[in-house]
Amino acid sequence: MSLDDQKTFFWKVDAICPDPEIIRQAGLILRRGGLVAFPTETVYGLGANALDVSAVERIFTAKGRPQDNPLIVHVSGIAPVYEYTFAIPQKARLLMEKFWPGPLTLILRGNGRIPGMVSGGLPDVAFRMPDHAVALALIQEAGVPVAAPSANLSGRPSTTTAGHVLADMDGRIEAILDGGASGMGVESTVLDMTGDIPVVLRPGGITPSQIRTVTGAVTLDKTLLDNVATPTRPRSPGMKYRHYAPSAPLVLVEGSPDMIVREIIKLAGYYAHMGKKVGILCRDGHQDHYPYLTIVAGGEDPASVAVLLFSALRLFEGTGVDIILAEGVEARGMGLAVANRLRRAAGGNVIKAGQNPVIPTFSNIEYRKE
Ligand code: TXA
Ligand code: MG
Repeated sequence: MSLDDQKTFFWKVDAICPDPEIIRQAGLILRRGGLVAFPTETVYGLGANALDVSAVERIFTAKGRPQDNPLIVHVSGIAPVYEYTFAIPQKARLLMEKFWPGPLTLILRGNGRIPGMVSGGLPDVAFRMPDHAVALALIQEAGVPVAAPSANLSGRPSTTTAGHVLADMDGRIEAILDGGASGMGVESTVLDMTGDIPVVLRPGGITPSQIRTVTGAVTLDKTLLDNVATPTRPRSPGMKYRHYAPSAPLVLVEGSPDMIVREIIKLAGYYAHMGKKVGILCRDGHQDHYPYLTIVAGGEDPASVAVLLFSALRLFEGTGVDIILAEGVEARGMGLAVANRLRRAAGGNVIKAGQNPVIPTFSNIEYRKE
């Protein structure tokens, strides 16, 4: 169980009733300081024993992740959270009771027992109980809290299948548990519970209005608003670093569905005329509008876009497209999480359909290639 031979075990498991022997071996790897990728209901996670500093350090190395970006501690119930916090505020407790297991990560004041390496040196620790039988069985078997970021190379789209994990992590980690595709497709909502009013730091599967029903007032982090809710100029020079980066630059077009289609046809024509190979990320049923390579992610319901978004971004790899034009979604309800991920993938190249945007000239499109 070392990486001396650069071999990553790839174990298929039943998503509902995983083989206890495989879970036992995977738990052993975690207890011995190894890394195991596992399915959750949101995306695949890359797990290590959260109490083992050198194991956690290996997560950052395997992903190429900056060490100041903190990890979520995955637990199999509410009880362990008491061990690693001074107290659980009442609103946090109510949220856990309502939404755990599920796609809601809560940031609480830690008591110092989770190593600083996990929380990026911050006193606050993020906790989540995933809603997936394989993840829960693994955490229980390991008998320790499991630190786990999304199981992708840093900067790349998150992984929603074990095949994606293998593509990014083969030879870097000890094992991958293949429990099929993740049902939700975007990562959990990250909610800061350290103040009186909860603050959404990352939108995800649990929406602000769902949270509001339990806690009353909720605010959205200011940078999240910058990224999602306020109009962005077509080209944002400061935005050099991108998350969820596909293999070609992505221009996101937002607005009403009709306007989006019209704008994309116009933009695609412009880029095609320049001799560029255009790819379009679109809703099901829109393919016929575009005489270009199209990859479909979902339908009109943003939750269905969430399911396919990251795998669609990865599907553009190998198509040889020079530019991806993506249909935007309305940033409401589950659409908030999808719009946030699309904006990150676009890295500031966001166009409002029909508002006489400046077309990003090809050489100006912000793009950081791996
Ligand atoms: O759905 C998910 O949350 C997936 C699955 C595997 O559980 N995990 C995931 O982890 O998306 P990761 O590392 O890719 O994203 C964690 C996010 C990051 O944006 C990180 O900055 C934030 O949570 N975060 C973690 N701990 C934090 C803390 N103590 N304070 C502020 N933000 C924190
Ligand atoms: Mg991630």
